[in-house]
Amino acid sequence: MKIQNEQPVLTVRNLKTHFFTEDGVVKAVDGVDFDLYPGEILGLVGESGCGKSVTSLSILRLVGVPGKIVDGEIWFEGKNLLSLTENEMVAMRGNRMSMIFQQPQTSLNPVYKIGDQVAEVFTIHKNLPKKEAWDKAVELLHLVGIPDAEKKAHAFPHEMSGGQAQRVMIAMALALNPTLLIADEPTTALDVTIQAQIMDLILELREKMGTSVILITHDLGVIAEMADRVAVMYAGQIVEQATVQELFARPHHPYTKGLMGSIPVLGKVTRRLEVIPGSVPNLINLPQGCRFSPRCKARIEQSLEICLHENPMLVETGSNHLCRCWLYDGQMKSAGDLMEANHE
Ligand SMILES: Nc1ncnc2c1ncn2[C@@H]1O[C@H](COP(=O)(O)OP(=O)(O)OP(=O)(O)O)[C@@H](O)[C@H]1O
Ligand code: SF4
Ligand SMILES: [Mg+2]
Repeated sequence: MKIQNEQPVLTVRNLKTHFFTEDGVVKAVDGVDFDLYPGEILGLVGESGCGKSVTSLSILRLVGVPGKIVDGEIWFEGKNLLSLTENEMVAMRGNRMSMIFQQPQTSLNPVYKIGDQVAEVFTIHKNLPKKEAWDKAVELLHLVGIPDAEKKAHAFPHEMSGGQAQRVMIAMALALNPTLLIADEPTTALDVTIQAQIMDLILELREKMGTSVILITHDLGVIAEMADRVAVMYAGQIVEQATVQELFARPHHPYTKGLMGSIPVLGKVTRRLEVIPGSVPNLINLPQGCRFSPRCKARIEQSLEICLHENPMLVETGSNHLCRCWLYDGQMKSAGDLMEANHE
C-alpha cells in the first residue's frame, strides 16, 4: 500500500546515535537514511546488535545516557524532531507516534489495572474525564480482541497472558490514532498463533486508520507477508532497501543474500534469518572500508581491493532499489555485471 507520490510521513537523514562508554564510542547508528510513506509498512531487518532498536528509539528521542544523537535530521509531519523541546516531544509521543516493544509485561505498570493504564492515555493527552476515558479504554480493549473486555479491564498485568498483554500495549499505542507506529519485535515472546493474530491486528489497524508502521523482526516470513518495503541494516547503516517483492526476487547486497540463504523465502511464513559465517563487527572499532568486508565472500572471491579502503555509499541500483556495495556502484559496474552473470 505504498503511495510514493505522496509526501513521506517520516524522513530520516544521516542519523547518527552513538554511545559514549568507558571502552570507547559505540557507533550504534551511523548514518541512517530512509523515508516512510503514509499507510506504508517498512520492515527493518538485520542481525542482533546492528542498530534497529536504537534507530527506533532515536526517532522517538528516547535514547538515554550514555547514548546521544550526534548528527542528522528526523522529519515527521513537517517538523524536525531533533529541534523540538522535550515538552513538544512528549506531546508527540503517544499522540502522533507510538511504539510497541518486545516484552509487553515489562512495559506495563504492574500496580495499575490495565483499564486504568489505557484510560490514562486519554486523560493525559485528551483531557477526558475519568469515566469517559475508562469507557474508551474498554472499547479499545474490545477492538484489539481482548475477550470480555469490560471485566478484563479490571485485571492487573500479571493476570494476563503474554498475548493479551501485547494487545493491551497495542491498544495503548493506537489509542490516539498515531500517524506512526514503531513495532520492535512485537511478537518474539509469543507463541505462533498469537503472533499471527497480532500481525493481523497491525494490518487491520493500518487499513482502518492509515497508520504508517516500522516493523522490526528477525522473521523474514513475517516481512514477506506484512511489509511493503524492506531496509536491511548492518553495523549501524542501511546496506540495502527495496520493495518487498524486489528484495526477495533480486537481493543485491552480499549480506542480504547471506541472510536469505539460497532457498526462496517469499511465502514461507516461518523462515528465520540465515546465520552468516563470521561475527558482527565491533561498533567501537569498525573495519576500514566496507563494514561487511571481513565476512564478504564476494570480496574475497573477486579480490576487491577497494572494499578494504572505502565504505561504499547507499546508491540507487534500480527502480525503488538502493544498495551500499561497490559491486553495484557505478564505479564498479563491470564487476557488478560479472557478479550478476555469475548468479544467473
Ligand atoms: N546503553 C547502551 N550502551 C552502550 N551500547 C549500547 C547501549 N544500547 C545499545 N548499545 C549498542 O548499540 C548497538 C545497537 O543495539 P540495538 O539494540 O539497536 O540492536 P538491535 O539491532 O535492535 O539488536 P536486536 O536484534 O538484538 O534487538 C549494539 O551494539 C548495542 O550493544
Ligand atoms: S562493498 Fe565489497 S566487501 Fe562490501 S559487500 Fe560489497 S563486495 Fe562485499
Ligand atoms: Mg532490538
